[in-house]
Amino acid sequence: TAVAPEFSDLRHEIAGVPISEIARRFGTPTFVYESSLIQERINDLRAFDTIRYAQKANSNLAVLDLVRRQGVLVDAVSAGEIGRARAAGYVPVGDPPPIVYTADIFDHESLDLVVEQGIHVNCGSPDMIAQYGQRAPGREITLRINPGFGHGHSQKTNTGGEQSKHGIWHDQIGDCLALAAQNGLKIAGLHMHIGSGTDLEHLSQVCGALERVALAIGSTITTISAGGGLPTPYRTTDLKVDIAAYFLLWDATRRRLQEAFGHPVRLEIEPGRYLVAESGYLVAEIRAVKQMGANTFYLLDAGFNNLARPILYGAYHPMSIAPADGSTNRERRSVVVGGPLCESGDIFTQSDGGVVGSQLLPSAKVGDYLIIERAGAYGFTMGSNYNSKPMAAEVMVNSDGSTHLVRRRQTFEDLIRGESIPSVDAGSAA
Ligand code: LLP
Repeated sequence: TAVAPEFSDLRHEIAGVPISEIARRFGTPTFVYESSLIQERINDLRAFDTIRYAQKANSNLAVLDLVRRQGVLVDAVSAGEIGRARAAGYVPVGDPPPIVYTADIFDHESLDLVVEQGIHVNCGSPDMIAQYGQRAPGREITLRINPGFGHGHSQKTNTGGEQSKHGIWHDQIGDCLALAAQNGLKIAGLHMHIGSGTDLEHLSQVCGALERVALAIGSTITTISAGGGLPTPYRTTDLKVDIAAYFLLWDATRRRLQEAFGHPVRLEIEPGRYLVAESGYLVAEIRAVKQMGANTFYLLDAGFNNLARPILYGAYHPMSIAPADGSTNRERRSVVVGGPLCESGDIFTQSDGGVVGSQLLPSAKVGDYLIIERAGAYGFTMGSNYNSKPMAAEVMVNSDGSTHLVRRRQTFEDLIRGESIPSVDAGSAA
């Protein structure tokens, strides 16, 4: 049947660490990351001059520190992400800029921060150019261009075209040049990110669009960014992206611009998912096995508060079972996998059109562990406290096989921190 050979359906360990040990030491649900896989994925991309990690995919300090030590620079989309980069050892200023703030707006906090710390800004709206220019005249900026088309694994991750709120519309370059000139801002970089899960077919269109805009702006451009969006395989039928072909297309664009401008042009790539998706496992415990008519349900102690991708995008994640008794032989059955939340959508095995789908998985009992795989990108970072559930723990398996608790599970005190009850009407209740 259709079970993917490279995704094990029984799994007893992660990077050599027994899953029962992970559960005993750290509890469940817990995200476990395999550091060596992140390093391998970084090495795939070494042809690019700069790898800039889109930390929205996974911004815990251990991952940020790991990528920093590999020479990877970082992208930030908020004051909080700038703060995380700093806390993981990134300095604010350098050539190329260690941290780039990429967004469509500034809130007051992020504007203050980039101005004070000299963080490079990638402007995704004409308003950003105007607001930044007033506060930091004379600096260099990058423009994020919306080329008028986009692509993504779901409409929600498509970031180009007129339905998308992202970037500066491609034919407003003249206005942007004028806005920048008002405050002596120099447009040094161009950036395009049309979506997550793009393919090579769309890429040549993107390269062509970026080249046209770069030529219209002229030789102030010294950096071009291919954005993020490199796909990573979730299903066995998903192809692995051809990095060499991807690089060659961008490199050809860069070379043509170098010829036109007569100076070197740096080529950046800005992956999130590609670097971390594969490294992450969400380890949960099966807390109920229910039969509802024809459907068998495994209900976990993890829900869409921990991993929102299935409910948000209908995303597929491979899963495996770690039997608590260590058994290596379990029959497979078709099961629906759900979480503890009081919503029907709290289902990890989504069908194409609706909520309840199924996966073929080893039969399991309460107390066995279920591992949701390829959960390293947009897992923890999109988590929430819905139903007053604490955020999961995060654990790194280091290259020497040792484990490190990156983030402890939240406690009840964490959940109510900062809240208070008004005293005005105290005592008025019956
Ligand atoms: N650069 C920019 C400007 C972005 O907006 C993004 C993602 C990236 C880079 C990284 O994209 P990646 O290489 O990870 O595809 N939550 C969704 C993905 C949202 C992506 C948002 N922007 C998911 O779980 O699929």
